[in-house]
Amino acid sequence: MKTLIRNATVILPDAMERINVLIDGQTIVVLDAADSTTADEVVDAAGLHLIPGVIDDQVHFREPGLTHKEDLTTATRACARGGITSFLEMPNTKPTTTTLQALEDKLAIAAEKCLVNYGFYIGATPDNIDVLKAAQRTPGIKIFIGSSTGDLLVDSQAALERIFAETTLPICAHCEDEATVKANAAALGGGSSVADHSRIRDNKAAIIATKRAVDLAERHRHRFHVLHVSTAEEVEFLRGTSDLITAEACPHHLFFSTDDYDRLGTLIQMNPSIKSKADCAAVWQGLLDGTLEVIATDHAPHTLEEKRQPYPKSPSGLPAVENSLALLLNEVHLGRCLLSQVVSWMCEAPARVWNIHNKGAIRVGYDADLVLVDLNKTQTILNENQLTKSRWSPWHGTTLTGWPVRTWVMGRTVFADGKLDESVRGSEIQYSR
Ligand code: DOR
Repeated sequence: MKTLIRNATVILPDAMERINVLIDGQTIVVLDAADSTTADEVVDAAGLHLIPGVIDDQVHFREPGLTHKEDLTTATRACARGGITSFLEMPNTKPTTTTLQALEDKLAIAAEKCLVNYGFYIGATPDNIDVLKAAQRTPGIKIFIGSSTGDLLVDSQAALERIFAETTLPICAHCEDEATVKANAAALGGGSSVADHSRIRDNKAAIIATKRAVDLAERHRHRFHVLHVSTAEEVEFLRGTSDLITAEACPHHLFFSTDDYDRLGTLIQMNPSIKSKADCAAVWQGLLDGTLEVIATDHAPHTLEEKRQPYPKSPSGLPAVENSLALLLNEVHLGRCLLSQVVSWMCEAPARVWNIHNKGAIRVGYDADLVLVDLNKTQTILNENQLTKSRWSPWHGTTLTGWPVRTWVMGRTVFADGKLDESVRGSEIQYSR
């Protein structure tokens, strides 16, 4: 099947041009196709922008084991609507993805259920080094240096040294220092309101763990990606690190600060915690000056009932995949960044960081994972319209200008005119290494 996308303004790796794009099967085959090119379907995209599909390199989709919160069908419906055509998922499911069998099992469920392309990290434990060395169908290794939702934690220096010394896959980590978090919690008697969450998981906890992980990576010459940077201290520190180190920001650390606890309470309880307005500004600055290369959601749904329990019983995490691109397009609308920067943070950089084959850019020969965005469309995020199984958003009531309106996954339209084609299936992401 051939599809001709006509008249869109196309965001290319080094330019923005009004050209016609031809898709044949799963692949982009011609840029600048003639108006007369024949195709099975011709899409008139005048007034719209065509960008590469978003690659979200940090999500928690809860299957297997926690599917009352989310599953791979509901999560990937939300992705398709949000313009996310590929995701890399974290290992804190039940069972955890810490064995080759658990990884294969997840890939098999994904092949059946996912409407977009999929990849799964292999999770580190203190004693699964042989698994980490043998795993191949994965973008890399995830380490929780500091515990979060679930029971994955590698805190011992000896175990961390071994992982960085003996494995070859890229490593990413959740960086919050366990000892600091425990000491802060003890000093606050465990915490009595959600504002204490940011005092317990404070700036010090984040910077200590980030420095520790970067030190391991630099000494062992290992590729390392810092997940969800939340503090000014980390941004400043990362400015001086080597090319081995990449880092990312998440929408909740850009758009929420501790000032929002009064309004949103435990809905914005996250690990790493939400920080001050000054930290939000520093994380933004880190993106704008290239210190932070990637934006990913850390989509981590829990039910509203779970989230509404009093702190500290309430779990950390919030859903975001269906709104992350729109949140950033709204920043383009407000003149705070360029569309080409959004494409760099959400499409090109994740493909580069994780060596993803033939994705992340609009190029001849690349996979036809594409999104048409309408920079003038205004829409309000409402809980009742969310496709995530958890059916809520911390951005409920927020009106944004700039929305994805059509999404292709491997050449097939999975979302258009507000509707999903549930027959579309994504593919397993391939890695060049
Ligand atoms: O707030 C969080 N929730 N941070 C994480 O690292 C894990 C996530 C979850 O899985 O709920």
